[in-house]
Amino acid sequence: MNVLVLGGSGMLGQDVVAELKRRGNDVSAPPSREIDLADPQSVALIAQLGRFDWCVNCAAYTAVDKAEDEKQRAAELNAMGPGYLARVCAMSGIKLLHISTDFVFDGAASEPYREDAPTRPLGVYGRTKLLGEEAVQAALPVAVIIRTAWLFGANGKSFPRTMIGAWKAGKTLKVVTDQVGCPTYTGDLARTIVDAIEANIFPGIYHAAGPDSMSWHAFALKAIGAYRTLHDLSQPVDIEPIRTEQWPTAAMRPPYSVLSTAKLQAAGIAPMRPLDVALAEFVARLDV
Ligand SMILES: NC(=O)c1ccc[n+]([C@@H]2O[C@H](COP(=O)([O-])OP(=O)(O)OC[C@H]3O[C@@H](n4cnc5c(N)ncnc54)[C@H](OP(=O)(O)O)[C@@H]3O)[C@@H](O)[C@H]2O)c1
Repeated sequence: MNVLVLGGSGMLGQDVVAELKRRGNDVSAPPSREIDLADPQSVALIAQLGRFDWCVNCAAYTAVDKAEDEKQRAAELNAMGPGYLARVCAMSGIKLLHISTDFVFDGAASEPYREDAPTRPLGVYGRTKLLGEEAVQAALPVAVIIRTAWLFGANGKSFPRTMIGAWKAGKTLKVVTDQVGCPTYTGDLARTIVDAIEANIFPGIYHAAGPDSMSWHAFALKAIGAYRTLHDLSQPVDIEPIRTEQWPTAAMRPPYSVLSTAKLQAAGIAPMRPLDVALAEFVARLDV
């Protein structure tokens, strides 16, 4: 296949590009200075870049807290940009797989979210991502949208990288216990994404996330534990469990955002590997 990846320099995008190439596909991953998702005229240039079978959109405004102050920028990238992209894909006969987020939910559920669960984003980031989903579906009803959650990967800033770095530096660690979600390794999500486009899965929204749900506190313990085991370190791991109100942030986060991946599995896509296996690979790739 000939695949266009937007956001190919990002944490997920780099793994998607690598996985596509590993499976022998031709990949174009233009940087944002070449194709600016926020600029409709720039997005229109995609039609001149080549003949693509698929476009995978990993580009987004991902600074969840900063988005509360930069509403316009977040909207341009997360809400309007995906709409421009979907229109160009529709006109050029390119199939689109767009990435979205668990932050479209309010986290009031107590069982894993299915794709048809009611959405109610709590902040600007989630609201703009939801508008992006709607813009994609309006312009290209046959698009595939994958909502994912709690990403961590070797190529970018992520929670486990920050935790491991702080622990190594001997800092006092405090992490929330009352937000629960599914840590998702970008290497595994990249495999899921490429599996989905190779299988030409039916259009619509799918949830794709790691199979283990836990709190940020439990995730921090596991991540540091994996790093400690790999490097045979004896430094103790001591993380104070705290509640969300003890760690105020500009944007509210869903307290529970476990995603049901049953629909994706029913479509024949294999589940991701257990978190312990993914973390072992992650810490081996980590350069902290
Ligand atoms: N991180 C998470 O925990 C998480 C959770 C759920 C869902 N998601 C979703 O997963 C996707 C990937 O997230 P990520 O964490 O891998 O993102 P990331 O590391 O922040 O990367 C964002 C990408 O978007 C590109 N980009 C920014 N502005 C652009 C523009 N104007 N035009 C074109 N490209 C632009 C960036 O390119 P430059 O480097 O050139 O700026 C970068 O490649 C996003 O859709 C995000 O909403 C993420």
